[in-house]
Amino acid sequence: MACSIDSFNHLWKVIEANLNKIKDVLSIIGLAYVGKVGLQVIAKSVKVVYLYGLARALGPRDLVSEYGRWAVVTGSTDGIGKEYARQLASLGMCIVLISRNLDKLNQVAAEIEKEFKVETCVIQADFSQGRDVYDKIKTVLEGKDLGILVNNAGVMLEYPMDISEYNGDRIWNHVNINIGGVTMMTRIVIPEMLRKKRGAIVNISSSSAIGPLPYMNIYSASKIYVDYFSQGLRAELYSKGIDVQTIIPFYIATKMTIFSDKLAKNFLVPNAQSFVRSALCTLGRSPRCTGYWTHEIQHGFSTAIPTWMWIWTGRILQLQLRKDAEKKGIAPKKETKQNVVAV
Ligand SMILES: NC(=O)c1ccc[n+]([C@@H]2O[C@H](COP(=O)([O-])OP(=O)(O)OC[C@H]3O[C@@H](n4cnc5c(N)ncnc54)[C@H](OP(=O)(O)O)[C@@H]3O)[C@@H](O)[C@H]2O)c1
Repeated sequence: MACSIDSFNHLWKVIEANLNKIKDVLSIIGLAYVGKVGLQVIAKSVKVVYLYGLARALGPRDLVSEYGRWAVVTGSTDGIGKEYARQLASLGMCIVLISRNLDKLNQVAAEIEKEFKVETCVIQADFSQGRDVYDKIKTVLEGKDLGILVNNAGVMLEYPMDISEYNGDRIWNHVNINIGGVTMMTRIVIPEMLRKKRGAIVNISSSSAIGPLPYMNIYSASKIYVDYFSQGLRAELYSKGIDVQTIIPFYIATKMTIFSDKLAKNFLVPNAQSFVRSALCTLGRSPRCTGYWTHEIQHGFSTAIPTWMWIWTGRILQLQLRKDAEKKGIAPKKETKQNVVAV
C-alpha cells in the first residue's frame, strides 16, 4: 500500500514538473504573441501619425520637379480617378485623361484647364476590349515628359453576387481592366521613366485583397494581382529612380458603391475628394498604404485576424450589402430556402 502511494506521489511530482515546464513554454509563447501584437500596434500608430498627420500637414511633395511634367490617370472621368486628375492638376501637373466616354473626358479636361491652367490631353479607350487599345495610347504618350501614372481604372461587381450570377462580360472585364489595364499601362510608361531615371506609378488595389472575399470573389482576386504586381515592381524599379506605390483603400463613396446606403459617405467611407487629398500626401512617402487614416486603422484590425475569420466576417458583410442592393432594386432577389416553393 505504502509502495503504491509512494509511486503515485512520484508520478504526481513528475506530472507537476512537466506541467510547470509546459506552463513556462506557454507563457513564453503568450509573451511573444503579445509582444508581436504590441509592436504591430506601435508600428501602425506611427504610420497613421506620420502619413495622415505629419505628411498631411506638410502637403504633397513637389511632384513636377520630382517625377516629371505629365500625369496619366486611367479611369479619370469619375470617382477616385477624376479626383486624382484634378488634384494633380492643382499641383501644376499636365494631365492625360483616359476613359471610355469621350464627352465626359472632354468635359473633365475643360474643367481642369479652366480651373488649374494646365495642359490636358484626352484618350478615349475601353480597357475591356483587350490589348489592341494600348497601341493608340502608346502613340499618344510618345514624347511626353511622363512623371506619374495612376493605374486607377477598375471595375467591381455591381453588387455582391455568387459565381452563378457572373456572366462572360463580368469575368472578362475583371481580367482585362483590373489586371490587363494595370499591367499594359505600366509597360507603356516604363521605357520613358527608365530613360529619365525618375517617375512614379500609383496602383490602386483594394482592401478586398487582404484575404479571399466571398461574393466579391473575382474582384478581390483581381486586386491581389494588382497588389502583388505593384509590390514586386517596386522592388525591380526602386533602384532605377522609379517610385511604385500601392494603394489599398477600404470603401470610398463613389458610383461603384451606390448599391448600399451603408457605403454612402461617413466616418469610415470618405468621398473621393477627401480620400485623394489624403492619399496624394502619401506619394513618395509610403510604398504601400490605404491612403486614408480610418482605412489604415481598419487595415490594422483586418490584418491582425486569422484568414478564416476575415473570410467569414467578409461573407456576412457582403450578404448584408447584397440585401441592401436588393432593397434598392439594384440586385435581383436571391432565392432563399423560405421562398423556394417545392414542386
Ligand atoms: N470606391 C471604392 O470603394 C473603392 C475601394 C477600393 C478600391 N477602389 C478602386 O478604385 C478605382 C476607382 O474606383 P471608383 O470608385 O472611382 O470607380 P468609378 O467611380 O466607377 O469610376 C471608374 C472610372 O473608370 C472608368 N472606366 C470604367 N470602365 C472602364 C473601361 N472599360 N476602360 C476605361 N476606363 C473605364 C470610368 O469611366 P468611363 O465610364 O467614362 O469609362 C470611370 O472614370 C478602381 O480600381 C476600384 O477598384 C475603389
